Amino acid sequence: MTQHALLPDSIQIERAEGASLYTKDGRRIVDGISSWWVNTHGHCHPKIVKAVQKQAEKLEQVVFAGFTHEPAEELTKKLLRIADPSLEFVFYSDSGSTAVEVALKMAMGHFEHQGKSRRKIVALEGAYHGDTFGAMSVSERSVFNRIYEPYLFDVTHLPFPSEGQEEKTLEEFKAVLRGGDVAALIVEPLVQGAAGMRVYSTETLKALHDMCRQHDVLLIADEVMTGFGRTGRMFACEEAGIAPDLMCLSKGLTGGFLPMGATLATKEIYMGFFNQDRSRTFFHSTSFTGNALACAAAVASLEIWESEPVMQSIREIEEAHKRAAGWFYARPDVAALRVKGSIFAFDIKDDVNGYLSPVGPKLYDYMLKNDVLIRPIGNTVYVLPPYCIANEDLERIYETLWRALDHVRDEGLERAA
Ligand SMILES: Cc1ncc(COP(=O)(O)O)c(C=O)c1O
Repeated sequence: MTQHALLPDSIQIERAEGASLYTKDGRRIVDGISSWWVNTHGHCHPKIVKAVQKQAEKLEQVVFAGFTHEPAEELTKKLLRIADPSLEFVFYSDSGSTAVEVALKMAMGHFEHQGKSRRKIVALEGAYHGDTFGAMSVSERSVFNRIYEPYLFDVTHLPFPSEGQEEKTLEEFKAVLRGGDVAALIVEPLVQGAAGMRVYSTETLKALHDMCRQHDVLLIADEVMTGFGRTGRMFACEEAGIAPDLMCLSKGLTGGFLPMGATLATKEIYMGFFNQDRSRTFFHSTSFTGNALACAAAVASLEIWESEPVMQSIREIEEAHKRAAGWFYARPDVAALRVKGSIFAFDIKDDVNGYLSPVGPKLYDYMLKNDVLIRPIGNTVYVLPPYCIANEDLERIYETLWRALDHVRDEGLERAA
């Protein structure tokens, strides 16, 4: 995601604390994007640091096939306590992409083992599910994966259910379901992250879920970005009152401390692979599956959820975002303001839409020169801070953003003159 021909120098970060990143040369940069949406409770949260240190002295890693350990057992219990009760099993891997790969393989295997020829996977336009090949296949064909397109498997993408277009999405899904060959629908529930923080309604998510149920189609909820409070609930699916068959987690799972993925599944899916016949095993190995340090970090992170008012912090961030939205609303260069939980986003009116809009890098540069890290997605600007962020830092992000927009506008005017 970095074009080195344009950005030859990376900034060296020496340490981090809360929402602050400290550079080697003494700058403090406010992390306005939770270091790519992973950080929840702040960098180097002392409780997670301690838990990982303690675990490192006992057991760092052991093969997780035929073996287990306390942090994994504890984490599984905690995850199953906060997830929908219909999700009863957890498979660990190491990233969001692998959590998605696992979910896809489970969905495909589920029908193959029943001898049913249901091979179609359905996703939404604009989807981003990661950068491994299965995850790229279910993602929107875009600048990120265009050159690999000949190598990706066929997926049916439904139109994105933007406001007023919901019926179109549901109608198309209905038509696709008539073929009787759909295995699974994969969605980012309520908010598509990489597509530019695009929000859709809980009613639509619920309707998609109900259609899956009626047609024996599995619903995969990719909560890699939305999970762990980003949209104002622990999981976005909760808001729509739906229970997916498979749920993918990563990013905030360890509080953003260590890489880890988890795929939660129903008993029905688990039982599809549970068999005396070894060939029916769910074959998927990642060397570091169930890594003990990552599990310990995730357990500590979930304990912070239990012992600290994290949801209250998210609500306060949401209120601050809404106040800021009120100011930005007045700007003629800003469109489609949206606030969802800890996410604040808007589009800059620009001639070039999409990821390659030149406005993104300009804004990024200006913000960074002013010690704020945000990474626009094309002409979409978003703020997605760690939940511990101080009010002053949030205000600073909005104010710097305001000045950055002025700067971009004035530069444009100068060029036109
Ligand atoms: C919804 C979603 N799924 C999957 C991924 C892939 O996660 P990772 O980068 O950890 O592989 C991302 C990453 O941004 C994501 O936003």
